[in-house]
Amino acid sequence: MASTTVGSVIPCKAAVAWEAGKPLVIEQVEVAPPKAMEVRVKIKYTSLCHTDLYFWEAKGQTPLFPRIFGHEAAGIVESVGEGVTDLQVGDHVLPVFTGECMECAHCKSEESNMCDLLRINTDRGVMINDGKTRFSKNGSPIYHFLGTSTFSEYTVAHVGCLAKINKAAPLDKICVLSCGISTGLGATLNVAKPKKGSSVAIFGLGAVGLAAAEGARIAGASRIIGVDLNSNRFEEAKKFGVTEFVNPKDHDRPVQEVIAEMTNGGVDRSVECTGNIKAMISAFECVHDGWGVAVLVGVPNKDAMFMTKPVNFLTERTLRGTFFGNYKPRTDLPSVVDMYMRKELEVEKFITHRVPFSEINKAFDYMLKGEGLRCIISMDD
Ligand SMILES: NC(=O)c1ccc[n+]([C@@H]2O[C@H](COP(=O)([O-])OP(=O)(O)OC[C@H]3O[C@@H](n4cnc5c(N)ncnc54)[C@H](O)[C@@H]3O)[C@@H](O)[C@H]2O)c1
Ligand SMILES: [Zn+2]
Ligand SMILES: [Zn+2]
Repeated sequence: MASTTVGSVIPCKAAVAWEAGKPLVIEQVEVAPPKAMEVRVKIKYTSLCHTDLYFWEAKGQTPLFPRIFGHEAAGIVESVGEGVTDLQVGDHVLPVFTGECMECAHCKSEESNMCDLLRINTDRGVMINDGKTRFSKNGSPIYHFLGTSTFSEYTVAHVGCLAKINKAAPLDKICVLSCGISTGLGATLNVAKPKKGSSVAIFGLGAVGLAAAEGARIAGASRIIGVDLNSNRFEEAKKFGVTEFVNPKDHDRPVQEVIAEMTNGGVDRSVECTGNIKAMISAFECVHDGWGVAVLVGVPNKDAMFMTKPVNFLTERTLRGTFFGNYKPRTDLPSVVDMYMRKELEVEKFITHRVPFSEINKAFDYMLKGEGLRCIISMDD
């Protein structure tokens, strides 16, 4: 399947963020061919994750513009650079914001997915190969985001940031497994590890939090307590096995106290999926002493500080955190896709909106309003 575009610059459409918080503009950009250990991918579908929104708003972050956001997507390999042996033209891939080189101490460890070479880096806007961008417009560089930049018809990624998946899997659905859903699911199944019959609190009932709830349901938790400031989330969350709801705004004392009272001293596990520092602290303080484990998933403001009394640790509570649910993207993500193919995991219920690429800004509006879960953006329409 030789493509005529191999080796040449591809002019295509991309949604460029020129400034923080300003609507993206669909521009004609040039996408350079992949260099050594890189792959150029034709993006078929992409969706919006809160992490894109957060860095687009650039509040309290190091802003880098113009930039092409997007990291939750599915696509097809268009061409490969020198030294790439694991992927071929035509392979179906999910880009992942944190990569796996397969050679460093982290990649060789059973415990870590924090690859030395390709771990998440929100400040870098260039390729690691040569410190340059593969995107440009009229010769001026446009920066990358998370090594994926999927809000473009074509993108270039390091081979270590691409998981090769089953070609039978429908890309318009499983694109949500490339970040949010795998992150939430893995945070519960791989990190919090609730026991059968246990109680789990989920802070933040967006797609990531509801995927964490789905993990709790799969693990056999008997009580799943959903916590959100937006009560509109509660109806939808019932479909994900959430059994009880708490809106911190309805109480005049800290939500951790409310949860401790509901559960006779605290939940067995909690998973925080908000990015809000107060929610992170509550998620830790609401777990039961003696055995409770809290897992942080939300991306906080870079200056946020976690404050709690050390006695909360001495009394045997555990605090953990994870990127991408501790999954190794190349090694583990294909099996998450297979879980979907075997109908052990539903992704359809996370998809509440669909828009053509030309209307990508609508996806931002839905998320800003807290409306729906994932909005799929079709690149071909
Ligand atoms: N660690 C990772 O690997 C990883 C991966 C993907 C996303 N994230 C992060 O996970 C978080 C959730 O992402 P999402 O796409 O589901 O976002 P989302 O906007 O769809 O959902 C977030 C939810 O949290 C709620 N919320 C906000 N502050 C709260 C508070 N103080 N208490 C209770 N609820 C609160 C909001 O009302 C909303 O319903 C974001 O911070 C995102 O950046 C982390
Ligand atoms: Zn994400
Ligand atoms: Zn590595």
